[in-house]
Amino acid sequence: MDGPSGSGKGTVSRLVADHLGWRLLDSGALYRAVGYAAGMAGLDLSDAEAVTRCAETTKIQFRAAADGGDTRVIVNGHDATDELRTETAGAAASAIASVPSVRQALVALQLGFRKAPGLVADGRDMGTVIFPDAPFKVFLTASAAERAKRRYKQLKEKGLSVTLAGLQREIEARDSRDASRAVAPLKPAVDAVLVDSTGMGIGDVVAKVLAVVKL
Ligand code: DC
Repeated sequence: MDGPSGSGKGTVSRLVADHLGWRLLDSGALYRAVGYAAGMAGLDLSDAEAVTRCAETTKIQFRAAADGGDTRVIVNGHDATDELRTETAGAAASAIASVPSVRQALVALQLGFRKAPGLVADGRDMGTVIFPDAPFKVFLTASAAERAKRRYKQLKEKGLSVTLAGLQREIEARDSRDASRAVAPLKPAVDAVLVDSTGMGIGDVVAKVLAVVKL
């Protein structure tokens, strides 16, 4: 499941994985974790060598939440789940994700998620680079305005102070950076089914994605 941020990929992937009883890979969390670890270490995010070393050495673990809530992401032993959701972490992730050797450092970890009975992999290059032989591929999109609105609602609910216009600007800037980078740019795999979730409820999107999975 590939697509831009705010397309609903995260939620839809989780619901589809739950429905099918498959594992879930949130690959964005890996890039966020590396960006976060690099920030904590005070690294210059444009120093490709330093961030690559960081990607190679950062220990990232996913742990089921004790209360059945969201999966926790543990970075170098610290539960960084909440920090990783911030726009700052998203921007740091997008910056380090444009470094080819950083992407390379995260390949094996991602491939390790491929286990029976199945995997829903959520990201930008799941269908094009990491799992090119995936039997079912979906590219989920929504208009930038709608994605900004969704993100605004999410962040407001968490009590964070953001503006709709600011979020839309950030989303557009991140999209264009993710789509124009030389390595693994954000683009649909040739064999992906395109789903535009603008104006759709989450239940309808999940149903549309499940219809793609023909078991
Ligand atoms: O899906 P997300 O917003 O958590 O992703 C954060 C950033 O990580 C996003 O701007 C681009 C990058 N990313 C990537 O380059 N490749 C992936 N498979 C997943 C995320």
